[in-house]
Amino acid sequence: MSNRKTIINQLARERVATHEELAWLIRTADESTLEWASGLAREITSEYYGRRVYLRGLVEVSNRCARGCYYCGLRTENLDLERYELSEEEILECCLRACKEGGLRSVVLQGGERSNLSERVASVVRKLKAAMPDVAVTLSFGEQEPEVYALWRDAGADRYLLRHETASKEHYNLLHPKSMSYEHRIESLDVLHELGYQRGAGFMVGSPFQTERELALEIEFLGRLQPEMVGIGPFIPQSATPFAGMKRGGVEQTLLMISLVRLVLPKALIPATTALASADESGTIKGLRAGANVIMPNVTPTRYREAYAIYDGKKSSGTESMEGIAALQAELQRAGFSAAMERGDHPDFVRPTGKLNL
Ligand code: 5AD
Repeated sequence: MSNRKTIINQLARERVATHEELAWLIRTADESTLEWASGLAREITSEYYGRRVYLRGLVEVSNRCARGCYYCGLRTENLDLERYELSEEEILECCLRACKEGGLRSVVLQGGERSNLSERVASVVRKLKAAMPDVAVTLSFGEQEPEVYALWRDAGADRYLLRHETASKEHYNLLHPKSMSYEHRIESLDVLHELGYQRGAGFMVGSPFQTERELALEIEFLGRLQPEMVGIGPFIPQSATPFAGMKRGGVEQTLLMISLVRLVLPKALIPATTALASADESGTIKGLRAGANVIMPNVTPTRYREAYAIYDGKKSSGTESMEGIAALQAELQRAGFSAAMERGDHPDFVRPTGKLNL
């Protein structure tokens, strides 16, 4: 058996490997490595989840953003973008449709990072929870003050997605302007945990200046952090950003990273991301075969979708309709998976009772 398979086996058994082993594995991985890793990852996923894939309805609430991340098309400096913001009624309406007609039990409200969102988001979460108490609500609006995270949690939010983007501080500084700090991002992830959110971290594969060293760090970092969810997608350049001309991330490498993360976090909820689906026609199914177990169909009203231009060529199929969700269910079935229409909480997640003392 090759050394690569030995490292993968050890990762599956003990959930650790040395930094050198991981970096070497990632650098030299070939087709058979990928196959081996995804086979084990799929096996481990099935132990907890069978062939079930959780669906979350994704609402892209607003593309307004106060940040200037070099990779992202929503950055403030992108003046080409027509900015929009859904009204509370629009958000409620598309969530109600996705859940009542489409049968989903989990919605994700996502939008650019701004400091004036606290009351608006709290209000919409309260209304969603009042209308559909059994639907899990996930938020994703970047870094916020602890008080704001607490307010949203009190309003009923269950989960929060905040990708760390890279586990290396030096690399983080190459992807973000000086006004952003790696430490603050990690602190935010800690606060979210203390407040009793199920939290999602995550990173891009093939982002500029990333090497196998950074990717190895990802595995080590996530093993320590133990997030309930991990979003992993290939970097795809966006034409109106400083990284416009940069090389895109590889689909194969993304699949390998999904598998390796699965091995160290057997029970995590890992989406087959839109970026993966955009980079490869069969990206979603390939992601599931590599160990992902979540899909986030876009339920944003169609007319806004083009403006949520995080990267070029972003896929936005018409899953906002009942038919779209039904088509997705059929596609999953054909590939040997089944759509799980439950909340899809992390199996170990126990709702904490206490509040954080701020
Ligand atoms: N390519 C791939 N993913 C991107 N994201 C932002 N810009 C890009 C890009 N150009 C991801 C980031 C962010 C999430 C909302 O989208 O990881 O956290």
